[in-house]
Amino acid sequence: MSVFETIKNRRSTGKMTAQVPTRQQVEQLLEAATHAPNHHKVEPWQFIVLAGNARAELGQVMADSLARRLAENPPEKAEAVLAKERNKLLRSPVVIVAVAEQPTQANVLEIENIEAVAAAVENMLLTGEEMGLACMWRTGDAAYDPHVKRWLGLTPEDHIVAFVYVGFPAIPKLERHPTAIANKTTWLGWQE
Ligand SMILES: Cc1cc2nc3c(=O)[nH]c(=O)nc-3n(C[C@H](O)[C@H](O)[C@H](O)COP(=O)(O)O)c2cc1C
Repeated sequence: MSVFETIKNRRSTGKMTAQVPTRQQVEQLLEAATHAPNHHKVEPWQFIVLAGNARAELGQVMADSLARRLAENPPEKAEAVLAKERNKLLRSPVVIVAVAEQPTQANVLEIENIEAVAAAVENMLLTGEEMGLACMWRTGDAAYDPHVKRWLGLTPEDHIVAFVYVGFPAIPKLERHPTAIANKTTWLGWQE
């Protein structure tokens, strides 16, 4: 498959089977991530791979944190809401947390570190597509939660750019029909 075909074929896949990708497959995704463009060559990414019980443990941290947020104004069916949060990371056998570090050099911009990690995440998604894996980039409130970051060994200033859910597809892919480039592009100085 050409890169162009892989890009067009890639879809977020929300439902995955219980089959666990091999360590080698996960390492290939991570290696792809580390080839992403990054300004000043600071390689501002860190990855945390969650599998097995680690997913449930972090899910509990996420649910506890949500419970604290909801404490003042608990919704109806709060227990169901918390159970959903607790089980979120169990939707795939592996979850890769992609983190952007804070700049440590004066010439490095925080936003550019985040952009570089976003590029690294896309590299993972495209490589996963080529390997026949199912991948899904997710964030949600948990990505910005200091308790979640602390459990992962991160500082509050680190940015969780993605929870990349990784597994094997349990559902067929739907077609994507992006808005035509004519509606998204301004051509300046182009002569033809
Ligand atoms: C920064 C970012 C955060 C995202 N967070 C979520 C999320 O929390 N939940 C979710 O279902 N999808 C999330 N997505 C995936 C998008 O929903 C998905 O890319 C979009 O629907 C387009 O579908 P496609 O990836 O199959 O083209 C996120 C994507 C990005 C780039």
